[in-house]
Amino acid sequence: MKRASIIIPAYNERDNIPLVVERLEKLLPGDNWEIVFVDDDSQDGSREVLMELARSNPRVRFIRRIGRRGLASACLEGMASSAADVFAVMDCDLQHDETILPAMLRAFEEDSALELAVGSRYTGKGGGTGDWSKSRVFVSRFATRIGSIVRKTELTDPMSGFFAIRRNIFEETVRQMTGKGFKILLDIVLSAGRPLRVREFPYEFRTRQHGESKLDIVVAFEYLYLLADKIFGRFVPVRFVLYVLAGLSGLVLHIGTLGILHKLADVPFITAQILATLAAMASNFLVNNSVTFRQQRLKGGLLLPGLIAYMMICGMGAVVNVQSAEYLFEQNIPWWFAGAAGALVGAVWNYAVSTQIVWTWLPGILKKPTSKK
Ligand code: GDD
Ligand code: MN
Repeated sequence: MKRASIIIPAYNERDNIPLVVERLEKLLPGDNWEIVFVDDDSQDGSREVLMELARSNPRVRFIRRIGRRGLASACLEGMASSAADVFAVMDCDLQHDETILPAMLRAFEEDSALELAVGSRYTGKGGGTGDWSKSRVFVSRFATRIGSIVRKTELTDPMSGFFAIRRNIFEETVRQMTGKGFKILLDIVLSAGRPLRVREFPYEFRTRQHGESKLDIVVAFEYLYLLADKIFGRFVPVRFVLYVLAGLSGLVLHIGTLGILHKLADVPFITAQILATLAAMASNFLVNNSVTFRQQRLKGGLLLPGLIAYMMICGMGAVVNVQSAEYLFEQNIPWWFAGAAGALVGAVWNYAVSTQIVWTWLPGILKKPTSKK
């Protein structure tokens, strides 16, 4: 067997950790392999379990990441910490059927051109999604379908979190990967930029016995983000697009508020316009905070200072916008082009400056040094 590292991302998996080790030790031959747990500072006592295991068992290593979260990035860091020829990735919760792992690893021996081995729920006679609800099966299949638009390697189960790759694929793709969210296999396949030589291994997804799933709506959102980043990210940062969309939602709110105040409530136009502007800014701030800058979202006591800074920056953005539009207009550029260009310059200003100040610098200086994440 090739030298292999089994990378196991684990977040609050205390009870599952020793079971995984026990099962792998029964299954895998020889001593050319190791297990690398990547734990994101779980609060359930995983640390003690890992420490104990690593001390008594030379096959077991672990990485502890403090103040960080994320399945995909955890797997990448596990690989980066290893000198193996083949990296396998498997969940810690025993939902992946580890009995196909020996065959997956052996395949790299048998086929020296093989680059990727994937445990698939949707191929061959195996296949099945265990205890998943109808809606989750639907979402998963739908996600698989839209993913195929940008994929170069044909896979029946590109969402699988159970796979093995040869080291050179990791080296080739790691700098192109987004490392965000759950879909690391898809990330690898998309980042490779060429079809990979792949073999699939059917298995049945098992029911989780201990602990709970970490997949939620945020993860689904991250998946769409990953696809968008791969399709459009070359041209415009996806974040900027989200920022502009948030701005458009603010514009709709602005016009609505203005109409209600001025037309229905008889508020004088100027007062109504000022109130509508403030409402739109506040709403843009909140939408950007929970969508565009979700990963560094401001919470609690940071919200108000964030909002104030955001409004000041957007105020300056308006000045930048008007100044550049005026300059272009004076150069005999058509009025509508000058206006749109001014708006774009203002949006880029708002985006760039608020990214740096509101969502990077501010949380850094206002955070209490002891508080975590
Ligand atoms: N280090 C770390 N950090 N590990 C994490 C994190 C995290 O932020 N989030 C989840 N994990 C670990 C879990 O502890 C588990 O071992 C594994 O990643 C999968 O997480 P689950 O929460 O059990 O995921 P699931 O069962 O809903 O999702 C499964 O299906 C997906 C296919 O749609 C997994 O097999 C995924 O890998 C797979 O992509
Ligand atoms: Mn699971």
